[in-house]
Amino acid sequence: MNETTKDRDWPGYYRKTGDRPPRPTLVFALDRFDAEDPNALPSQAVDLGCGGGRDAIEMLRRGWRVFAVDAEAAALDALRAREDLPDDAELDGLVARFEDAAWPSCDLVNSSFALPLCPPDGFARTWDHIRASLRLGGRFAGHLFGEHDSWAGRDGMTFHTRRQAEELLDGLEVEYFDEEEDYSTTVRGEAKHWHVFHIVARKV
Ligand SMILES: C[S@@+](CC[C@H](N)C(=O)[O-])C[C@H]1O[C@@H](n2cnc3c(N)ncnc32)[C@H](O)[C@@H]1O
Repeated sequence: MNETTKDRDWPGYYRKTGDRPPRPTLVFALDRFDAEDPNALPSQAVDLGCGGGRDAIEMLRRGWRVFAVDAEAAALDALRAREDLPDDAELDGLVARFEDAAWPSCDLVNSSFALPLCPPDGFARTWDHIRASLRLGGRFAGHLFGEHDSWAGRDGMTFHTRRQAEELLDGLEVEYFDEEEDYSTTVRGEAKHWHVFHIVARKV
């Protein structure tokens, strides 16, 4: 089944992944902010395609305000229902596709394993929106899928060559860029060749 279709079992995905540790790209970015100013006031983050909240919960735990966006209401429901949600969490949620969503200007846009699910005709404006919404010194942390990925060519998804991925980062200070090509199984147990760009970049 094409995992981009509406009948994809997202609630099952959230149950299986929500408690997993935050993505290394997010931890890298948060650690950079901490190193710059350990006493900084709470900063604003946007989590695009938050899923079950494995990244959002880490940002909230570290005192960030989080604006979480997901096309699936079940994702926001799962995030809000988490037992580890801090009592003082400053969390706003929006059920929307990120191609169409409005979100606040921010210090961090995090999008883990979600932007490739943006259709090609909406990707450029979504990426422009991400860059424009970042304040100076703000960071993007997240992932793009490469052209060798098993899912390349699926309807409704966007894939990039390495050169295209690098071009998207023109004018940003690239702090972390790792190209992964690996065989493993998906959360649903499907064998897959992953071609993933792991990215952290800073607006300067
Ligand atoms: C593979 S999951 C990743 C979830 C989480 N970021 C993580 O790292 O575990 C992708 C998430 O993006 C959401 N998503 C996919 N396409 C989207 C779109 N165009 N706009 C908003 N959310 C989208 C899905 O509903 C899903 O929750």
